[in-house]
Amino acid sequence: MKNLISMRDVSSEDILKLINLAVKIEKKEVNVDFTGKLAALLFFEPSTRTHFSFETAVKKLGGNTFSMSGTSSTSVKKGETLSDTLMTISMYADIIVMRHVIEGAARFAAETVDIPVINAGDGTNQHPTQAMLDLYSIQKTQGSLKNLTIGMVGDLRLGRTVHSLSQALSDFNPKFYFASPSHLQMPNYIKDDLDKKGIVYHEIEDIKEVMHELDIMYVTRIQKERFAVLEDYEKVKDSYIITKKLLEDVKDNFKVLHPLPRVNEITKDVDDTEYAYYFQQARNGVFMRQAIITSLLNLKY
Ligand code: CP
Repeated sequence: MKNLISMRDVSSEDILKLINLAVKIEKKEVNVDFTGKLAALLFFEPSTRTHFSFETAVKKLGGNTFSMSGTSSTSVKKGETLSDTLMTISMYADIIVMRHVIEGAARFAAETVDIPVINAGDGTNQHPTQAMLDLYSIQKTQGSLKNLTIGMVGDLRLGRTVHSLSQALSDFNPKFYFASPSHLQMPNYIKDDLDKKGIVYHEIEDIKEVMHELDIMYVTRIQKERFAVLEDYEKVKDSYIITKKLLEDVKDNFKVLHPLPRVNEITKDVDDTEYAYYFQQARNGVFMRQAIITSLLNLKY
């Protein structure tokens, strides 16, 4: 891999190699050193976890970062093109991590510059490093990625994390339940990919009826900022609220994952249960992002 743009480009072998490396990094079984490496963290859209976990990942291994959060203090405000911005940044940094509002922006960046590019989220399209840390979290909690029953809940159309994760899991024989409001269903191009691989998925409205079957429930926020009409968001914003009571009959190995941020879709009483794993999931992002950078920079360890 030279870049990480879409989970569609990542083989199951690549996934397992990255998970194995993340395990070794977390357990300090390998000596990965980013000394002298400089990562450009370009966030054209807001972020807490992705931005700060990349920064943590790089700095904890001796590397350095420079970053932008929004364009207000950059020459983008003077009319500089994305292409010229990226070319300039590539003269300074060893690797670019970029989040952008436009679908395909990360692919464009990878085609523009000669240094590796990591897609930290492009519009409603992909969020591959999130998918990789989600897979790492699933492997850690379930002991395997294979033959799992996964419920994905919430905004499956506009939420990019579920697109990347469902594609990433599709080589590991999952069974999916997709629970969403009717006009926020998983996009057809993702379902077409699953159909081609013979993956079983059911589109449902009520997650309650399948809770007892699930190994993982992956909850997502309704993506308010991507609605053109606020009234449409208001109609669906409370469609799924996961409470402790809903978890009464789940399997022992069951875990709740969420890419975060959450708004109201998981109530606070779930946080104290043995099933909540979303903050550990965010922590896992540091080790997985260290593994991804190590791999893209082809660093020895
Ligand atoms: N999961 C995730 O992408 O969170 P941020 O938007 O805070 O980076």
